[in-house]
Amino acid sequence: MDTDDSIQLKVTDNGVGIPADHIDRIFDPFFTTKDTGDGTGLGLYVVHAIVQRHGGEISAESSGSGTTFVIRMPKSAAAAPTS
Ligand SMILES: Nc1ncnc2c1ncn2[C@@H]1O[C@H](COP(=O)(O)OP(=O)(O)O)[C@@H](O)[C@H]1O
Ligand SMILES: [Mg+2]
Repeated sequence: MDTDDSIQLKVTDNGVGIPADHIDRIFDPFFTTKDTGDGTGLGLYVVHAIVQRHGGEISAESSGSGTTFVIRMPKSAAAAPTS
């Protein structure tokens, strides 16, 4: 979705979904449901940090049949922090 100030990108998969008691933790560092050695729990943490540093927002909604990630990014670089 395109507005004057921002662009919104939605990506939906058809995977297993994310349980309600996990969805608030998926952006936390080291949160993973994968086996030791398979997952680091850093993927979404890093994505969240990058989006935030550019003045954007990311969120996730999920059901039992898939997950939708919504990213909103400002068009203006002025919204991004300088450090
Ligand atoms: N598209 C997805 N569908 C279902 N679960 C997901 C999805 N993306 C992330 N998750 C859940 O969030 C957790 C954290 O993801 P991530 O930060 O990428 O770390 P990792 O992939 O190393 O586990 C995953 O272990 C999984 O439980
Ligand atoms: Mg990952």
